[in-house]
Amino acid sequence: MLISTVETSPNIALIKYWGKSDDLLKIALNDSISMTLSQDALRTKTTIALVDGLKKDAVFFSGKKVRDEKVEEWIKLSRKRLSKKYPDVKKRMLIITENDFPTSAGIASSASGFAALSAALCSALGITSKKEMSIIARFGSGSASRSIEGGIVKWKNPKGADSDESYAVQVVPKKHWPDLVDIICICDSKKKKVSSKQGMEATVRTSSCFGCRVPKANARVKIVEKAVKKRDFETMAIETMKDSNSMHATCLDTWPPVFYMNDVSKEIVYAIHEFNSEGIGAAYTFDAGPNAHIITTKKHVSDIRKMLKKIDGVEKIIVSPIGEGARFLRPDRKEVERYLKRLK
Ligand code: PMV
Repeated sequence: MLISTVETSPNIALIKYWGKSDDLLKIALNDSISMTLSQDALRTKTTIALVDGLKKDAVFFSGKKVRDEKVEEWIKLSRKRLSKKYPDVKKRMLIITENDFPTSAGIASSASGFAALSAALCSALGITSKKEMSIIARFGSGSASRSIEGGIVKWKNPKGADSDESYAVQVVPKKHWPDLVDIICICDSKKKKVSSKQGMEATVRTSSCFGCRVPKANARVKIVEKAVKKRDFETMAIETMKDSNSMHATCLDTWPPVFYMNDVSKEIVYAIHEFNSEGIGAAYTFDAGPNAHIITTKKHVSDIRKMLKKIDGVEKIIVSPIGEGARFLRPDRKEVERYLKRLK
């Protein structure tokens, strides 16, 4: 039995991916850059075992057997890519996975989920290439390609990229800027009405301003990459806020329009601009949902927390430092045997 256990965490995009050139393989229309979060704050733990004689792939989420179409599609695509060189991938998979944060809390769990699946599958097969792990993670969800590496990570998508050219690389490790923090501000923990997949497909199809977003986002990735290398917080923060606004503007320009930010999100935007009036110390950014991510440095965390707590509608605050990327653990064979027994 080939077996591997991995821990990962979500990432937050500073310059966002929004729109695909290939919907199945999830190749993006623009580059993106993100900060990996810390497993100490938000953690996914996943074990994959490739088992001789198992009849069907089986997925256990938080101890319960589940069926998940996205995971099934990911297994299909991964097998197709890897089976020639790594025939063991054809064996049936036992997947045991759990998040230590509520999946329904409005924090993107698919990035850490698919990064964990991909790192575990690759390492069970003896693949050590982070590039390969990133490509396989991308098959589950685009943003997952950026959760393999830690620190600040760039997902490259050159124009007309094929599957081998669309993957994420580390820009700088955590130790380059260990002071960075993401304050996650939950202002609506309900499931979103429009998924990121539906939202970006509709935007690409119908938004008249989407065409100018793509080159602008690519240019911003270059600016942020340079700023990060110099630890230039102000430039990074301004581009991060502008890019979030740009993504949400294309959503408003989608037909019919898509709204991810709510009134609480907008209050947070005003509050951060107010906070920054005497010098840029924080940046807001919003994914495909109303919850705010406030990128800042450690010295501002307590003031920002206090400020956010005063805003009506803020349900919960989670603070995550910058993280280190996928962590490989010693698998617990006895646990795997216990799950296999349940399948008999
Ligand atoms: O990877 P997905 O399908 O969850 O889409 C992610 C889209 C954004 O979170 C809005 C942006 C990003 O780059 O993470």
